[in-house]
Amino acid sequence: MNSETCAEINLNNLAYNIHAIQQKVSPSKVIPVVKADAYGHGAVAVTKRLVKEGFKIFAVAQFQEAMELRESGFSQPILIFGRLFPGEIPGAIKAGFRITVSGKEDIRWIEEVGHNLPAFVHVNVETGMGRIGVLLDQEPDFFDYLVRSRHCIWEGLYTHFSTSDEKDKAYANLQLSRFRKILSRIQKLDKRPSMIHMANSGGILDMPDSYFDAVRPGILMYGHYPSSETSHSIKPRQVMTLKTFVAHVREMPAGFPISYGRRWVTKKTTIIAVLPLGYADGISRELTNKGEVLIQGRPYPMVGTVTMDHVMVDVGNDPIRPGDEAIVWGESPQGTIQALEVAEKIGTIAYELTCGVSKRVRRVYVGNS
Ligand SMILES: Cc1ncc(COP(=O)(O)O)c(C=O)c1O
Repeated sequence: MNSETCAEINLNNLAYNIHAIQQKVSPSKVIPVVKADAYGHGAVAVTKRLVKEGFKIFAVAQFQEAMELRESGFSQPILIFGRLFPGEIPGAIKAGFRITVSGKEDIRWIEEVGHNLPAFVHVNVETGMGRIGVLLDQEPDFFDYLVRSRHCIWEGLYTHFSTSDEKDKAYANLQLSRFRKILSRIQKLDKRPSMIHMANSGGILDMPDSYFDAVRPGILMYGHYPSSETSHSIKPRQVMTLKTFVAHVREMPAGFPISYGRRWVTKKTTIIAVLPLGYADGISRELTNKGEVLIQGRPYPMVGTVTMDHVMVDVGNDPIRPGDEAIVWGESPQGTIQALEVAEKIGTIAYELTCGVSKRVRRVYVGNS
């Protein structure tokens, strides 16, 4: 009898996915992306397993995320995608983090506050993502400035796709050709970086020309396609299974409204199963009258408004009992629900689902850690 809502994290599936990625992109290297607590899977446990599988550099979004890994004993290089402010730069340099540089001001900050220590930097260049890359049109002397900097060790150069998960690759190819132009521009410089990288999951699946020295997989490593428009050139296994259990079953008469706002009303006498998870756990309220769960291997519809702590499911006349396991998404002996399919019902992506599983939900690790 199950009596816990948990996110089961299958580390063997993670290992399977990362090796499938490595095999596809070889001889390029892989920089696993473990930001946002490894997309909700638990950055420490995920990184530990990836180290065991032989991976040697990781990427996160924020200084604090990198510190969490350092403080957990990981001595590997960690690339921070986000922009660091002067208050964080000395700590990042001391910890040997790879600092993203996105303009001359960042280099100036490193020179000013870095205590004359060498700082490993990866330059993010803007090719069309419109986020934090260097705008070379506005800073045409950026590379000369970087090469002349006394303390920056220029290790990496990268850019980020904005549409590699779309079927139409025209814009992604335009970004790729802009990146290539930038690469040819730096050929003339005295110093050049040893790690050129671009591909995210969409690029890995569909754009082998974007592999360069390394690739940066996130969602694919966690077992999901970035969208339903990419190829399936890798077949990943879902790492997270979000599970709960039937807390209560009650036979409800016809015409009985279920949950807040009476957004669903029984048409006939039916059994309503109550599951003890809700939007406080990461079940979007948008799933109201749209979601499905698997119980005893069969799909049942979520009915009525998703509440903070409960969702209701119409199980008809089936012999569902308190303590039965219910799968919200993921893989289990009873069957599979793809997180991407759940996400698409509510106009979002699998990323938002796994990242949105809240801390109230215990992560339970299975497979060798
Ligand atoms: C700079 C950068 N590289 C790589 C990734 C990984 O992307 P994905 O999860 O689509 O593979 C991300 C995530 O958004 C990112 O911000």
